[in-house]
Amino acid sequence: MKLFQYDNFPQVTGSRVSLRQILETDIKDLIEISFYDAIRAETVQQAAEMQSKINQDYLDGNSIHWGIVDNANHNIVGTCGYYRGLDKGEGELGCVLLSQYYGQGYMTEGMSLAIDFGLHTLGLKRIWAATGQQNGPAIKLLERLNFVKTADLNDDEIEYELQK
Ligand SMILES: CC(C)(COP(=O)(O)OP(=O)(O)OC[C@H]1O[C@@H](n2cnc3c(N)ncnc32)[C@H](O)[C@@H]1OP(=O)(O)O)[C@@H](O)C(=O)NCCC(=O)NCCS
Repeated sequence: MKLFQYDNFPQVTGSRVSLRQILETDIKDLIEISFYDAIRAETVQQAAEMQSKINQDYLDGNSIHWGIVDNANHNIVGTCGYYRGLDKGEGELGCVLLSQYYGQGYMTEGMSLAIDFGLHTLGLKRIWAATGQQNGPAIKLLERLNFVKTADLNDDEIEYELQK
């Protein structure tokens, strides 16, 4: 697969959800979970500007940001992706669900697909994630996916790494 070209964005299909490119028409539904450099969008315009930067990061080979779609009805339920490290053959995974889709297993499957793609298509040698020490749902998610805690970072953040 030839990666990092706009018209060749990697789609990953699973049994209940799929990972696909985020389209302009999705942006209005994603404002509450649109972030760039840890700043959250407050308007459609800000979210669209962030999405342009994310698209450029993808074309530069620095990140892959997927929408997670429910296969049954095609609704976007959240996003996940690799946001750092790809230039070194590693990947920092991040993810966020729209709040109405919490607690239904969507992210466990979405992240599993992203991990599989990272290991087998991108050939990443290390996959990690960072979250807050108090972020119970994220810690539970990462542990369910076979990540283990590897470091205490600054500002109450902790780092988890996938055990292969
Ligand atoms: C982190 C986050 C994605 C976790 O969301 P989540 O809803 O707990 O994760 P999932 O979608 O995988 O759902 C798992 C839960 O659904 C339950 N579930 C219900 N139906 C299910 C089904 N059909 N299949 C699997 N699990 C199901 C699971 O038992 C689990 O609940 P539990 O954690 O109480 O045991 C969410 O809290 C979030 O978006 N937070 C803000 C952003 C963030 O912190 N990101 C983390 C950065 S690393």
